[in-house]
Order: sequence, then structure tokens, then C-alpha cells
Amino acid sequence: MRKVRDLRPIKVENGALYAVNQLKLPHQVEWVKLSTYAEVADAIKNMVVRGAPLIGIVAAYGFAIGVKENLSRAEKVLTVLKKTRPTAVNLFWALDRMWKKFEKYINDQLDKQEIIRLMFKEAEKIELEDYHANRAIGGYGQVLLPEKANILTHCNTGALATSGWGTALGVIRSAYEEGKEITVYVDETRPYLQGSRLTAWELTYEGIPHYLITDNTAGFLMKKGIIDAVIVGADRITANGDLANKIGTYSLSVLAKEHGIPFYVAAPTSTFDLSTESGDQIIIEERSEEEVKKCGECSVAPEETRALNYSFDITPASNITAIITEKGIISHVDREHIQKFLTYRGV
Ligand code: MRU
Repeated sequence: MRKVRDLRPIKVENGALYAVNQLKLPHQVEWVKLSTYAEVADAIKNMVVRGAPLIGIVAAYGFAIGVKENLSRAEKVLTVLKKTRPTAVNLFWALDRMWKKFEKYINDQLDKQEIIRLMFKEAEKIELEDYHANRAIGGYGQVLLPEKANILTHCNTGALATSGWGTALGVIRSAYEEGKEITVYVDETRPYLQGSRLTAWELTYEGIPHYLITDNTAGFLMKKGIIDAVIVGADRITANGDLANKIGTYSLSVLAKEHGIPFYVAAPTSTFDLSTESGDQIIIEERSEEEVKKCGECSVAPEETRALNYSFDITPASNITAIITEKGIISHVDREHIQKFLTYRGV
């Protein structure tokens, strides 16, 4: 077994939440203090923290902070936090869980200080459960990878996108920890560059061999027979197995299918949204044109040019080889198998 260091992107100290400011990576590790629920909401909206599971965890702490600020305005806090980003279901999943607990404690007529304490406890529980889920996903997923493998990944699905370890990048961490000879091909992931800024930084931190590639290099590498598997995370998986993930995921799935390369998705069961039938019903976040027209602070397009900036796309279930969860692997990705899998495992 190799030693793999681990990262934690958030911490709670004396009732305040601290997060690694992901806008400053890879150049600087800066911790920002989030003392109010409004600061938490801004941090999610402005991508100081990002990644589906982490957004959910941070929002849960944000709710606890909001209740501490003013218990009688809890409903407003919930609404503000829910409006931060629309696509990742983990945000809504975590906030609904927090709200249910809050309502119960109010109905039980618990004392105000006790409610605040229990709200922070619930957020911490969500965080810890996510960490254990990621370790389990890593364990199940690494078995799918050959002893010597070239793996292509997209966006950032590592410790920085979760409570630690990661989902798709967690599988890569686990395979590396097992002693497998892994080389990672990291899509830079324009326009936000989660691949080059965050995934490459995490892999460097762990000492895992990797190459950074431009997004449009993926097909060429697959055609040359260099890639053994593609592994990505997910922001929402619908009842029929379609998934929303970072823009560019769909193209990768089509390329993988064309070249007969396995296309794996790693996600905790909190990413499933069985109330949504299929991918075409998912709201896709659109971000500012400026993110496309600039690379960092540098303008790369004429002022007058309009840009489209869809943050996510939809990959159909038929392009997915398997979904790796903390409860095991779904190897036939369709409505029936997902339903049975989740029911038998008590999700
Ligand atoms: O816009 P982001 O950076 O929040 O998007 C993140 C992704 O698309 C990830 O692939 C997804 O959340 C899975 S992370 C474990």
C-alpha cells in the first residue's frame, strides 16, 4: 500500500466555518472564514467552494449558521441557500435534510441553544458520511481499474469537491494507494479550469503521475489507444440513469463509446434524484459570458463577441458503463436496475 496524503477543504472552529478559497488555487492556499449564512451563500455562488457534495455540505453548515444568527428567519435562510446554484442535487438534498431536522426540533419545543447545537451536529454528520462514502466509492471503484492504467478525468472530483478524498478522483487515489501504476490525463475543463487549477494541484500534492491536456485532446488520445478508462463525477443522476456533470462530459462519453473505452461515473447515493425522470428535465446553470471570453484575467475574445456558458451537460444513461456508489456498483445503468439497487440497499 502506498501512502496517500489527504486534504480537507473545510473546517469548523469555534462555531465558524473556514473553507479553502478555490479561486486562489493552484497559486495560494488561503482559508476564508464564513461567519454568516449570507457569506456562505456568496461563497457557493461565486465558486469559492464548488463540487456537488461540497456545495451540499457547506450549505448544511450555512443553514446551521443562519439558525444561530436568527432562529426565527430559518425559512429565509433556506430559500437564500437554495438559490445559490441550480444543478447539483446535493445542495437541495442536504438542505432538505437540515430543514426536516429543524422542523422536528421546533415541534419538539427544544430550547434554542440545543437546536443550534443539533443543527451543527447534523451538518457535521453530513460531512462525515460524505467522507466515508468517498472512501467506500474508492474501494469499489479501484477494483475496476487495471494494474497499469491510463485514466482520463474531467473537472475536479477530488477532496476539493467533497469533504475529502473525492469521488472519481477518490477512485484514482484508492487505485494509487493500492499500488496500481496509474497515469491520469487531466482535462483542463474550460472555462473554469477546475482540471488544471484544482485536479492537477491535488495530483501534484499526492505525487500521482499525470498530464494536463486541453479538452479537445481527449479524442486524439482515445484514437491512439492511450486511454484505458474515463472516470467522472456527477452533479445529479435522474431516475433513468441520465446524469448532469461538468460541460464536456457528454462529449467524452460519446468519444469513449466510439472507441470502446469504459466510461465510469463515481457518485454518492445523495447525487441520485429519483423525483426527476430524465436528464432533459434538469436545470442547467448558465454562467457569465465573461468566464468564456477571458482566461484568468486575460481577455481572449473581441469585446463585442457574445459567448455561451453552459456550466453542465447531460450524458445519457446509454453511454455509461457503470455507476460506482458507496453501496456498490450499478453495472446496468437504466431505470429498473437503479430502482432495484437503491431499494435493496435501503437508500
Ligand atoms: O461547477 P463545479 O466546479 O461545481 O462543477 C463540479 C462538477 O461538475 C463535478 O464533476 C461534480 O460536482 C462532481 S464532484 C464530486
